[in-house]
Parts: sequence; structure tokens; C-alpha cells
Amino acid sequence: MFSQLLLPLTIFCVSIGLQRVNCANLWPQPQILNQDATFYTLDPSSFKLILAKERVGCEILEKAIERYSKLLFLSDCSRLNTDCDGKKLPTEPVEDITNDPNYGGQLFNLSIDTNSCEKFITSESFEIYTLRVRTADYPEDAALFAPFWGILRGLETFSQLVTRYKGNWIINSTFIVDYPRFTFRGVLLDTSRHYIPVHLLLQNLDAMAYNKMNVFHWHIVDDQSFPFVSSTFPKLSAAGAFRPTHIYTPEDVSTVLEYARVRGIRVIAEFDTPGHTLAWGKGIPGLLTQCYKAGKPVKGSYGPIDPSQNSTYTFLKSLFAEIAKTFPDDFVHLGGDEVDFSCWQSNPDINSFMESQGITGDYAALESFYLQKLVNIMDTLKKNYIVWQEVFDNGVKLRSDAVVHVWKSGDYQSELSKVVAGGYRTILSSPWYLNYISYGSDWQTYYKVEPLHFNVTSHGEYDLVIGGEACMWGEWVDGNNVISRTWVRASAVAERLWSAKDVTSITSAIPRLDDQRCRMLKRGIRVGPVQGPGSCECDICV
Ligand SMILES: *[C@@H]1O[C@H](CO)[C@@H](O)[C@H](O)[C@H]1NC(C)=O
Ligand SMILES: *[C@@H]1O[C@H](CO)[C@@H](O)[C@H](O)[C@H]1NC(C)=O
Ligand SMILES: *[C@@H]1O[C@H](CO)[C@@H](O)[C@H](O)[C@H]1NC(C)=O
Ligand SMILES: *[C@@H]1O[C@H](CO)[C@@H](O)[C@H](O)[C@H]1NC(C)=O
Repeated sequence: MFSQLLLPLTIFCVSIGLQRVNCANLWPQPQILNQDATFYTLDPSSFKLILAKERVGCEILEKAIERYSKLLFLSDCSRLNTDCDGKKLPTEPVEDITNDPNYGGQLFNLSIDTNSCEKFITSESFEIYTLRVRTADYPEDAALFAPFWGILRGLETFSQLVTRYKGNWIINSTFIVDYPRFTFRGVLLDTSRHYIPVHLLLQNLDAMAYNKMNVFHWHIVDDQSFPFVSSTFPKLSAAGAFRPTHIYTPEDVSTVLEYARVRGIRVIAEFDTPGHTLAWGKGIPGLLTQCYKAGKPVKGSYGPIDPSQNSTYTFLKSLFAEIAKTFPDDFVHLGGDEVDFSCWQSNPDINSFMESQGITGDYAALESFYLQKLVNIMDTLKKNYIVWQEVFDNGVKLRSDAVVHVWKSGDYQSELSKVVAGGYRTILSSPWYLNYISYGSDWQTYYKVEPLHFNVTSHGEYDLVIGGEACMWGEWVDGNNVISRTWVRASAVAERLWSAKDVTSITSAIPRLDDQRCRMLKRGIRVGPVQGPGSCECDICV
């Protein structure tokens, strides 16, 4: 199928020096893109996305067609729901372009076909698609084909290809074969340091879909608050949320999961332990380690989860059973980062427990003892897991297909080398902590990262890098700024993880990223400016 579709290519989208020629302003840049000057008009009142007969009724596809039918011809910034300061945006005069020498006629439909109908995107799913719009060898019409999930990515591309020209909707003759360079392309949002309202979590999922990202890493709880409402342990949020209103009910969680599912986005929830759990202790007395000072317990002073108690593991078993059921993805993120040993050190019961285990004084071994029990629980629940790099560093025996998440700054390349040498798959976040902000076009720093720029002992180890993740930690971010701070900066990471390795020119990225920002604004995502002075059609309305 693909070899047949791959046939004659006329002009490639190529870089000549710093100038990228013959490219539409797509984001992220497709793997193979070939366009020419022949263009077609589209009539919004009659143009149709047509699903192959045997796929009619496939929910994911039908819903995608419904979404993109609306996104294709947005002319009036209408999704921003404001009145643009009372100004009516002028409607562009429609010029007759049918005499243009490059005019190729009207495009009536895009036909869409796949091999299957699926419900959940997984870590194994393919996202490849081919898209052709009346190319010389396929002059009849426009067609989008994919094994399955690529249809969603291809519809996004198609929607970006449809542009305005002298008041008309047009699309150039186009041939695309496209697929992601990395299968795991994530965004982390942190809903513990500040609460983020559900509608903004959904908006972030839209933004991810517009950038072909496919994993929402939901850092849902932490020291500061526990907004997840557990039906097994309702006290966790009752006592641990900032406020009774600042929670995610089971309905909220399923809203997020469903919104992500139909967009081909996995949701991986993180329940980080044994550190980062102060908010957990409020609802579950006895869960956390009591800290001591000068041989006496200090009232109200707690450390990481107490690994010495059997009750700890009974609790974890029940909670993670609920988590495993609630979040359908194959993976749960188990955290395991930044465990502070000082409280364990101060507690005489912990120390005598360690003595009984033959690990006197070795607090990293105690952490491993805990995490080993936790990963064993995950095995009984038949869930795979992602862990922060410390868990690997401390030598916890992980299942061979677990994923190690590299986050520490500094020489992260050496860490990547170690993780893949250990045979583990890995995702990279170190260079993509978008919560650190600075003046100017910092997206370029994210853009310039080459995830495979590290040393390996055998080339196959590079295949263990399955992707990366842009992180937006929540200490200084809430509903007011989470979208504008994450986007369009995360788009730089999105293109790095999707596009070919040699798509690195900042000069060619700038106009495409500008277009992406304006397009996202038009679609109602309040993305922040990243290139200095400029304007967008729809920034008048935000
Ligand atoms: C699309 O068509 C227009 C009009 O013919 C032409 O000016 C433009 O260069 C074409 N774009 C690409 C990427 O080929
Ligand atoms: C799509 O449009 C073409 C005309 O360009 C037409 O021949 C074809 O039948 C249409 N396909 C469907 C399924 O309507
Ligand atoms: C905890 O469980 C272990 C193993 O099942 C058992 O040997 C130990 O006595 C238990 N400890 C307590 C305090 O119940
Ligand atoms: C790879 O190894 C070489 C030779 O030891 C070293 O010079 C280089 O800095 C290493 N590259 C990275 C990215 O660590």
C-alpha cells in the first residue's frame, strides 16, 4: 500500500542554505512533503470529509471528522467567544481566482480510509498516514489513508493545508507521507502545586492534538495537594485537596480521559511516592514517616511514606488497584524522585527496621526496598510503569519493558547512556522543563535539542529512546497562565519529537511557528507570543 503511494515525487520540500523552499507552513514539519503551485478552491458549504463505507460508524473516525469539519474553515476567530472589543472583523472581499494560471478547479471532498477501527491509542499504535491532494499521478481527488490513528494526525495536517487566498479557501496540490520520529510525545501538567480547572486541561489536550502530541502526563497529586477523588480512600482528597472545590471527581477524570481518547492522546497519571506525598498523609494517618528531633517525635513533621509498615503496602495495593482501573493506559507513572532521607534517618523505628533487613544506614537501599514492593504490586495489577531516573539509579529491579524518565539537568546525556546500556526504554525531559522561563525566544533552546546526541556502545541502544516530554511544573502556574506559558513553547518540543532529525533550521521554523501560533489563537487556544513583536488575525479577540 505505502510503496504504491510512495511513487512519483516531483518537487520535495527542501532546505537550500537557510531558506526552506516549497513548504507549506505546517507544524510539525511532515517527514515527506511535496507540493506544487497548482491550487484548488474549497467551498465550505459543500466540501466533505468522506469516510470509507466500511468504516462508517467507527467512533474515533466519525468524531475526528466532526471536529475537523468545524476547524477547516474558521474565518472569524469565533472560538474565542468574545466580541473582539465590539469590533467586527471585516470580511475579506472574495476575488475571482479562476483565471489564475495555477488554478486547478474545485476540490469537493477528502476521502478517508483505514485498515481498522480502534478505541484506545496505546504505546504500540502507529501514527503514519499518507495524504494526497490531486497530485499528477492521482488527479481525481484528495485521499487520506492510515492504518488507523494516523487519520487523526493527517486530518490535522489537512486542516493546516487549507488556507486563504484572495478571499477564497484554497489548497495546493500536495503529497505527504508522514510519521513520528518518536512514538512518545508528551506534555506534563502539574495539578497539585496549583489546581487547574478541567476546561483548561481539555484545552491543553486540544493544543496537544494541534501539535500531534500523544501523551498527557497528569502529575495529579504531590506534597501540596491531593485533588484526585479516590472512591476507595475519599479522605485523601477530603483532607488533602487545597479546598473542597479544588478536586477532580470521578466524572471530571472521565471527562479528561474521554476527551483525550477521542483525540488519540494517552493519559498517564502519576502518583509519585514515596516522597512528594505530604498531602497524602492528611487523609491516611500512619502512612508517612514521623520525623524526630533530638530523639523525640516532632508533632506535625512528616517525611516520605513509611516503608517499614505492612499497612503501607495494604494501602498501596488498594489505591493502585483503583488507579489501574480508572486510568486505562498500559502505563502508570510511579514517580520515585527526590526522596529526602533526613526524616528516615531521624526515626529510630525506621533504623531498627533497616537493621532487621540488613541494610543499616543505607537509605537508598530502603528506598529501593519500598519501590521494589511497589513495582511488584504493579506486576500483580498487570500494569506497566514509568519511573523517574532515581529509581533506576538506585538499582531497583524493574520489569524489562518499564520506562525510565530522565529529568535531571546537567549531563543528562550520560544518564541516557546508562539507562539504555541497562536495556531500559527511556523518555527525556531534562532540556524541556518549560516551567523555567526567561526573556526572549527560549523555544529555540528546546528546538535545538537532539535527543539522540549521546554515546552508546551499540547503535541499537538508540531505539530505546522512545520520546520525550515537555514539563510544566505548577509552582508558579495555575489556570491563569498555564496555557499561555505552555504554548506555543511546547510546540518546539512537539516538532523535535515528530519531525525528521534534520529538521533543525530555526530560520525555516520561525514562519511556520508563527503560523502555528496564529492558527492556535484562531482555534481558541490563548497561546503566548514567543517571537517578539508581531500580530495575528485573532489576537484582537483574546
Ligand atoms: C501554492 O500555490 C500558490 C498559487 O499557485 C503558489 O504561489 C505557492 O507557491 C504554492 N505553494 C507551494 C508550497 O507550492
Ligand atoms: C468526491 O468528489 C469527486 C469529484 O471531485 C467525485 O467524483 C467523487 O464521487 C466524490 N466522492 C464521494 C464519495 O462523494
Ligand atoms: C509484616 O509482614 C511480614 C511478612 O508478611 C511479617 O513477617 C511481619 O511480622 C509483619 N509485621 C507486622 C508488624 O505485622
Ligand atoms: C562521546 O564520547 C566522546 C569520546 O569519549 C566524547 O568526547 C564526547 O563528548 C561524548 N559525547 C557526549 C554527547 O557525551
